[in-house]
Amino acid sequence: MATEQVTQRFTELYGAEPDGVWAAPGRVNLIGEHTDYNDGFVMPFALPHRTTAAVSPRTDGLLRLHSADIGAPVTEIAVDDLAPGTDRAWTAYPAGVVWALREAGHPVTGADVHLSSTVPPGAGLSSSAALEVSVALALNDLYGLGLDGGELALLCRRAENAYVGAPVGIMDQTASACCEAGHALFLDTRDLTRRQIPFDLAAEGMRLLVVDTRVEHSHSQGEYGRRREGCERGAALLGVDALRDIPHAELDAALARLGDEEEVRRLVRHVVTENERVRRVVELLRAGDTRAIGPVLVEGHASLRDDFRVSSPELDLTVETALSAGALGARMTGGGFGGSAIVLTDEDTAPAVTKAVEEAFAAARFTAPRTFEAVPSEGARRLR
Ligand code: GLA
Repeated sequence: MATEQVTQRFTELYGAEPDGVWAAPGRVNLIGEHTDYNDGFVMPFALPHRTTAAVSPRTDGLLRLHSADIGAPVTEIAVDDLAPGTDRAWTAYPAGVVWALREAGHPVTGADVHLSSTVPPGAGLSSSAALEVSVALALNDLYGLGLDGGELALLCRRAENAYVGAPVGIMDQTASACCEAGHALFLDTRDLTRRQIPFDLAAEGMRLLVVDTRVEHSHSQGEYGRRREGCERGAALLGVDALRDIPHAELDAALARLGDEEEVRRLVRHVVTENERVRRVVELLRAGDTRAIGPVLVEGHASLRDDFRVSSPELDLTVETALSAGALGARMTGGGFGGSAIVLTDEDTAPAVTKAVEEAFAAARFTAPRTFEAVPSEGARRLR
């Protein structure tokens, strides 16, 4: 359906059918938050929500961009004019991908692009990565570049870091490009090795809910960058390349060495314990003990709230309310400062949890949240 709609709209806009249609999903992160720019571990999975891109190549150096989700006419940019930091609109994401491909020496000579997305923007569910990866995969196929999912993810991160100006890590782009249905993706962000971990909650009578608090977050704003700088400072003070290099068993000694650097101590404690939590979740899932990951998610939330300080009142209320209503575990997911939380529940408890969270938001006079079930879905692929 989405494929037909974007094909039709593309044809109306550009006067000919697209050469192909591609899709790339948003993600939630099960565990491993703010670890990806510390060379650590993450474990996201792909959502069924995705960005669909209808694309044809051009040979005249023109990039034409249109989105069904933005009420604006087609934007035209000459690929030779693409320059980091010049575009503050949504078009910076796809344009940044073209720029990054060309910077890496790939002969991309233009494209007509029409996009349509079901990933809610600003909800911490990686709408940006879905957009970037859908366009990158399309250009990879159309120009015969032969890049694999991991390589495309790196180029998309480059686009976001250098062109858009958001200092994000590699998790979201890799999730969008490389996830598989029915699995969570265990990614070592240092050597970029990936392992698909079977994650079929429905088969075990459980559900994972996403609660979008409808409080928009943004990464290009300062707080995310400040956390990142604080972590880099921690690594420098401790004499390691990245906080990944501090083993969990040596955390106390490392914290003692940081003396009265209270802010840095908190950041370091979060990252080191969070890497350990990812390992624990991987072990529990491999042992078939899925229910036992609940308390690990709750610990992760407390660490993000108290040590890393990236939660929000809405996220905290979601987690507290869900747990009181009988959920097995809950935590904020993604960068924080708003966005979404995830809640692990038994199938029978899910409706009561959803209702309790809605009522708690109403009582607190927060904007009504949007709750949906997250089913681990497939990564980016060609649809047509
Ligand atoms: C955002 C970034 C990711 C990652 C998370 C926090 O989603 O895009 O790279 O840093 O925040 O885990």
